[in-house]
Amino acid sequence: MRRPFARALALGAAAAVIPLASPAPATADSIVIGGYPVETAQSPWTVALSSRDRFGGTRAGQFCGGVVIARSTVLTAAHCLSAAVLGAPPSRIRDLRIIADRTDLLSTQGKEIPVRATWVNPDYDSSTNAGDFAVLTLASPLPESSVIPMASSADPAYAPGTAAVVYGWGDATGSGDYAHSLRAARVQVLPDEACEEAYPGDGDGKYLAGSMLCAGELAGGRDACQGDSGGPLVAQGRLIGLVSWGSGCGRPGSPGVYTRVSDVARAFGRSR
Ligand code: ARG
Repeated sequence: MRRPFARALALGAAAAVIPLASPAPATADSIVIGGYPVETAQSPWTVALSSRDRFGGTRAGQFCGGVVIARSTVLTAAHCLSAAVLGAPPSRIRDLRIIADRTDLLSTQGKEIPVRATWVNPDYDSSTNAGDFAVLTLASPLPESSVIPMASSADPAYAPGTAAVVYGWGDATGSGDYAHSLRAARVQVLPDEACEEAYPGDGDGKYLAGSMLCAGELAGGRDACQGDSGGPLVAQGRLIGLVSWGSGCGRPGSPGVYTRVSDVARAFGRSR
């Protein structure tokens, strides 16, 4: 289904219903669909967004991913902070935090840092999903070693065929099996045409090459999934995308759509 996690969550109890829209057989080892376990030590810039108030404490309140782009700055998806997901404006979520250095959400490893301020891209368009990014300012800084550089538009990592890795604590099968330990999946940057064909705008989103990035496997199998949103897509040591949306997870012909990080730098610079 093309609805972002946002809308899935808004339906509350419908969490059990949403996956019906993607009956693709859940591969046993599916992420982050088709993924494998990783440690946050290997990707210290991958953080979890948490609110136990809103999402309960079983998985430390995790509801989206985020990426550390400066010591006190985390990038995530705009739709993660929408009222549809949070049930209120982000400023009203008293216990909004990021969790760093915690591979397993059931452990107490690493640290939880309160979010001091949120900035949601004012140009985010929930009908096309364009401009799906937001910036969180942390109450205290993370070490410099947690920061990942952002790709600029000229970055060679945007070339189709580039190997990339996506990270997250999201649904690992497409059936609502939220991971409690971090996973990663190897995907490749796909030509814009692959997503333009898959997402012409007749569903819940329209692929727009200027602000989005297409990645996955043409044959399906490896992909991000619900709960991974806002998390990083990394290639050649740089952040190139943020998990944003897709139709189902890991389905052939329906690649993952990511926020194009080079566009974030541009848009963020302009709007502030
Ligand atoms: N919108 C989802 C979220 O909020 C992410 C979906 C990504 N889907 C995909 N097939 N890559 O977690």
